[in-house]
Order: sequence, then structure tokens, then C-alpha cells
Amino acid sequence: MIRPFAWALMILGALGTAGYAIVAYTGWPAGATVHPEMRRVYAIYPYLIYPHVFGSAIALAVGPLQLSTRFRRRWPKAHRVLGRVYLGAGVLVGGVAGLVLAFHSFGGWIAHLGFAVLAVLWLLSGALALRFALQRRFDLHRRWMILNFSLTLAAVTLRIQLGLAAAAGWPFEAFYPWLAWTSWVPNLLLAWVFTRPRATGPPGPPPSR
Ligand code: HEM
Repeated sequence: MIRPFAWALMILGALGTAGYAIVAYTGWPAGATVHPEMRRVYAIYPYLIYPHVFGSAIALAVGPLQLSTRFRRRWPKAHRVLGRVYLGAGVLVGGVAGLVLAFHSFGGWIAHLGFAVLAVLWLLSGALALRFALQRRFDLHRRWMILNFSLTLAAVTLRIQLGLAAAAGWPFEAFYPWLAWTSWVPNLLLAWVFTRPRATGPPGPPPSR
């Protein structure tokens, strides 16, 4: 019961956030929906914010399909093509732009560092996942893709936390920098525990002396 509910929640969050990004950044000037200081930065760096938003939105929209075992088994070719789209157009484009943008983010060095570490881990985990797929080490490929997607979901967690903090009446300037950390560290820890290799079968006999 928990699994389908968690899946539905994840898909809803991923598609909702990707949808927000596409609608807000095609319908209005960049940053129209966020803090005026962020809007000012996005007007200076349109070549960073647009690739980041649209690239990352692709990763967020494609990711859940890629994690579906049924989809993978039924359409292995489509899984491979969409995997390239996810990693190339999504993680690589969104991640490199996100990394540079991290140093212009709102909230000083706490935000800069949080977003920069997130971007580096996003890029590295994607590269490792690709490497394991090419080596046909599919258990490791699966584990690193799940870790990678838990970081993609930072965009969803961030917006949930943003909403909760705003509803609690906390001042944006005080809590925003911390979201650059709290949006992804719990996701990654959960994914790490969930995908950790487990010992299979009963333990073998004790070594003979
Ligand atoms: C996982 C790695 C990610 C990193 C390192 C990252 C980094 C950043 C940074 C540094 C900013 C600028 C924040 C500021 O101005 O203070 C930003 C903004 C933004 N990011 Fe990401 N991001 C990531 C994932 C995503 C994903 C998956 C999406 C999905 C669409 C996304 C959508 C956006 C949007 C729409 C903005 C503009 C602010 C807004 O309108 O809410 N990001 N991101």
C-alpha cells in the first residue's frame, strides 16, 4: 500500500515541479515568480537560468519512467534512448548551469556551497551510473541512478519546504540559504539506505581452523 502511494506522490511532485518550471519560464520573464534579487540575477545570466530550468525539468519529467521496472523490461530500447536524454539534456546541461548558478544564488555562502555540492554530486552520480551501464554492471547502475534521481528530486523537496516555511511565517531571507542543503541531504540519505547492498541468503559455515 505504501509503495504505490509513495510512487504516486513522487510522480505528482516531479511532474508538478517540471510543469511549474516550464510554464513559469516560458510564460513570464525569468524569475517573475521568485524574490526580486533572484530575478535581477536571472536577467543578467539568461544563458545560465534557461538551460538550467529546462534541462533540469527534462530530468525531472523523464526520471520516474526510467525507474519503472515494467517500462524498462517492456521497452528496453526506449529506456536506453531516454537514459541518454535524462543524463545528457537533463543532468549534464541542468547540472553544469546549476553549478555556475550556485555561485550567484540568493543567500550567501551557505546557499552557494549547498547548491554547488548538490550540482557536483548530481553530475558525478550521473557519470558513475552511465559508466556502470556501459560496463553492464546493472545492479550498480540501478543503485547510482536511484541516488542520482534522489538528487533530482531536490527541486521538489525544496519547493515543499519553501511552502511550509512560508506558511509558518518564517522570513524568506533567513530560511532560504538552508534549503540549499535541506532540500537534498535527507533525499540522498534515504536513497543511500534504501539501495544499500544487503547480504543474500544465510551466512556460510564458519571458517575451519
Ligand atoms: C539537482 C541539482 C540542482 C542544482 C544544483 C540546482 C541549482 C539551482 C540554483 C543554484 C538556482 C538559483 C537559485 C537562486 O537564485 O538562489 C536554481 C534555480 C532554479 N532551479 Fe535548480 N537546481 C537543481 C535542480 C533543479 C531541478 C531538477 C529543477 C526542475 C525543474 C530545477 C529548477 C529550478 C528553477 C525553476 C529555478 C529558478 C527559481 C524558481 O523559479 O523557483 N532545479 N537551481
